[in-house]
Amino acid sequence: MGSRVQSGLPGLDKLLEGGFPPGKVVLVLGEPGTGKSILASQYLMWGLTSAHENGVFIGMNESKDRYVSEMKGLGMDFEPFEKDNKFGFVDATDIRRIPDQARVGRIPVGGRELGLVNLVDTIQEAAEKFVPKRIAIDSISDLVFRFPEVEQRRPVILDLVEALQSTGSTCVMTSEVTSTGTERTLQPEEYLAEGVIQLKTLQKGGRSIQVLKMRGSKIDIKPRPYVISEKGIEVLATEEIY
Ligand SMILES: Nc1ncnc2c1ncn2[C@@H]1O[C@H](COP(=O)(O)OP(=O)(O)O)[C@@H](O)[C@H]1O
Ligand SMILES: [Mg+2]
Repeated sequence: MGSRVQSGLPGLDKLLEGGFPPGKVVLVLGEPGTGKSILASQYLMWGLTSAHENGVFIGMNESKDRYVSEMKGLGMDFEPFEKDNKFGFVDATDIRRIPDQARVGRIPVGGRELGLVNLVDTIQEAAEKFVPKRIAIDSISDLVFRFPEVEQRRPVILDLVEALQSTGSTCVMTSEVTSTGTERTLQPEEYLAEGVIQLKTLQKGGRSIQVLKMRGSKIDIKPRPYVISEKGIEVLATEEIY
């Protein structure tokens, strides 16, 4: 594959044959605290600072203020870019608060479906406003957990992935995994995404990152160590996990 979108995370592109496939959706899986939000933010911040690429963060679990101050603590200040309309934070936390029995006017509608429609609209509006090259959606767990059955979940993820890809930007989508390990069943988000990256906290201490899939790429599928510091995530791409 030709051109790549650099992830902006030190070391990660070495595992990816140069970066993410342009215009596609890459899923980042990991338990809470593994650094999914940091990864998504570093991806956007690198675009803003090193490539003059606009970015949009779709925050599904936290308010803008909390997000901005959290990332400031990791050396990423989104505020100046927001003022210049180069960065947009979309507060999508309302979507999960829509009750299962919702109404549009007097017409009862499925709240779960309404949440999805709202989210797709929100993505399109943000894409028109900011014309981003990079979008991060963090995280889709609350949305997709409302559709526990794979048959219900598949069209939801498909709509979401299509909405993201229709913007033309390259997207990082994060999701919490409930169970890790080999017996874990493949979720629709994993096969519908172009690539899947998994973050793990190791029982013996330390952290590991593994590229599980990236269509059309010669990836390094070995788990590699990564560290989180006040400068964010760094992938130790040539080191082994022992
Ligand atoms: N300055 C820092 N130095 C080291 N680790 C940090 C620092 N700031 C945050 N972390 C680590 O980052 C993790 C949180 O990252 P985050 O992206 O919010 O995780 P997730 O989104 O996967 O829940 C925590 O485990 C925390 O220990
Ligand atoms: Mg998070």
